[in-house]
Amino acid sequence: MNVLLIGSGGREHALAWKLSQSPILERLLIAPGNPGTDQIGHNISILVNDFAALVDLGRREQIDLVVVGPDNPLADGIVDHFLDAGIHAFGPTAAAAQLEGSKSFAKELMAEAGVPTAEAHAFDDPMAAAAFARESGKPWVVKADGLALGKGVIVADDLDTTLAAIATLSTIPAGKRLLLEERLHGPELSLLALCDGRTLLPLPVARDHKRLRDGDAGPNTGGMGAFAPVDSVDSDLADMIVADMMQPVVDVMEARGIPFQGSLYAGIILTDDGPRILEFNARFGDPEAQVVLPLVEGDFLAALLACAEGRLTPDMLRPRPGYAVCVVLAAANYPGAPRRGDVISGIEDLNANDLIVFHAGTSISAEGLVTAGGRVLGVTGLGATLQAARDRAYAAVEQIEFTDKQYRTDIAAIAL
Ligand code: AMP
Ligand code: GLY
Repeated sequence: MNVLLIGSGGREHALAWKLSQSPILERLLIAPGNPGTDQIGHNISILVNDFAALVDLGRREQIDLVVVGPDNPLADGIVDHFLDAGIHAFGPTAAAAQLEGSKSFAKELMAEAGVPTAEAHAFDDPMAAAAFARESGKPWVVKADGLALGKGVIVADDLDTTLAAIATLSTIPAGKRLLLEERLHGPELSLLALCDGRTLLPLPVARDHKRLRDGDAGPNTGGMGAFAPVDSVDSDLADMIVADMMQPVVDVMEARGIPFQGSLYAGIILTDDGPRILEFNARFGDPEAQVVLPLVEGDFLAALLACAEGRLTPDMLRPRPGYAVCVVLAAANYPGAPRRGDVISGIEDLNANDLIVFHAGTSISAEGLVTAGGRVLGVTGLGATLQAARDRAYAAVEQIEFTDKQYRTDIAAIAL
């Protein structure tokens, strides 16, 4: 089979790595890809939002399956374009991607499906949102309704911060509509599942580390590291989340005629009153993909194709024993505008056993491999125990050098 993978981050390198192990893969093209994906398949320099050029490429190269990584092209209908051209694509249509692209739409579906989530109030007028917050006299989590590159949520500790957050988020395009959400407390989980519109195939439960600095301090980022599986989540709890919080949403979407096909990502918080959905994403998580994909056995490409063809069965992939820990190395100034062009050294010398270095924001220059984005590399260690996987990842992290590299030293520490 010929596969076209769309995207250029660490998630896409992990997807390329996993797809390349499939016995049915013939050719893998990645648009636009990164230096890591180019070692596995062939990078094609077409941007993820140039749908006409991508569909042309799909036709010309006789692509059997397109796999879409990032959220923005999904929300903009990339899958619809491929389907119109008669090309199978793994990922939701624009209508189904609204589950991530509009938080108010997701809340409405969850209400209809009876899925527990934080109480929320939607406002199309920031003045009305501010009046409501003042009236309530308490702080709220303020969320832009649309996609905002991970910058659309402000967790306020007091009323003044809530009002300031309303003012800030109402000025970004994704913030034309705002949500005020009740603040919940507890550990967070990421549960990703493949879905063909009806059937779910859950992957191992992962935990992300969203803040920039150790001890969950500093600003929110796309994710500074992750580990899986999360032992504190037993199989009963994971089964319950899938059956009672994910399947009902899938069923409501199917009944509405907008079936969800792709990777359904549930962001969950374990409160004292039980698990609650914080958000749904319509794609694989990044860096979650860098830890969950190495932990599954079976033909991954066959499973994605089965999703696109509406014939997924839950036995197509199985968890494999062991643990994975991914530590993200970020560029100077991330999550602000990252500095680019710093030379990266030390990757070649690494012993490849139980270690995968996923590229994200890298590029090749005259000086060799250099930084080219906020999250530069995702270093994934594997091991029979969480400790072994973590030690493996950090041993490699210390050998990779670039100027002012930023990383957390406490990824997965909470679970040890
Ligand atoms: P979201 O994009 O909605 O997942 O929000 C990003 C992050 O903000 C989450 O991973 C949580 O850490 C935090 N967050 C979002 N909603 C809430 C909430 N209702 N209560 C507490 N924290 C939240
Ligand atoms: N790591 C969080 C996300 O992919 O949205």
